[in-house]
Amino acid sequence: MIPIIAIDGPTASGKGTVAQAVAKELGFHYLDSGALYRIVGLASQQANVEFSQHQQLGKMCLGLQIEFVGNQVFLNQKDVTEAIRTEEMGHRASSVGAIPAVREALFSLQKGFLKEPGLVADGRDMGSVIFPEAQLKVFLTATPQIRAQRRYKQLIAKGISANIDILTQDLVERDLRDTQRETAPLVQSEDAFLLDTSNKTIEAAVQQIIVWYQSVK
Ligand code: DC
Repeated sequence: MIPIIAIDGPTASGKGTVAQAVAKELGFHYLDSGALYRIVGLASQQANVEFSQHQQLGKMCLGLQIEFVGNQVFLNQKDVTEAIRTEEMGHRASSVGAIPAVREALFSLQKGFLKEPGLVADGRDMGSVIFPEAQLKVFLTATPQIRAQRRYKQLIAKGISANIDILTQDLVERDLRDTQRETAPLVQSEDAFLLDTSNKTIEAAVQQIIVWYQSVK
């Protein structure tokens, strides 16, 4: 069986950075499932499809050409790496992520990322829905205040102005939508290890996951 590490958790918990570092250390492939939902958010905006048009959005997903090349993401051969990282696309991703037809359409695409020698998959439902067979499931989180501070620093470093109170409010709103939706809500599975990174460095979080993985593999 090809090994899988599923890392789920709320927005700005550090999942992406930690998951990528774990994948690198183990020489595994990496799936950024959030990027797929962000792409759907962007594509639906470009095609003027409303969030209420569930079936049309599902159909649209099946026709998207998505490619990951290193750290770059391409949609229909166009580099959308930066375009999908905005706060607006985070919100749009969260909205389309609540639509069952969209989740169904992205199901096989995500399964396709599982290849030898192994996969680190990051998202909201990696351990609960997409890869329930994962050898290791981690629920990675941090307090909303710390997550908002991290997001704030990221935006400022990119030269984008930001307001910490608005960021905290946005983040709490997105958490609420992601945890309360009916299809594949963000929850800590019973068999997932909880990793609170509020007071941990990235390196410490990565090493903890490696230790857990060595103990279960
Ligand atoms: O991980 P992220 O912040 O890039 O994800 C953006 C949004 O996409 C998130 O708020 C909810 C949605 N999403 C999802 O519904 N399921 C996933 N597996 C990953 C992301």
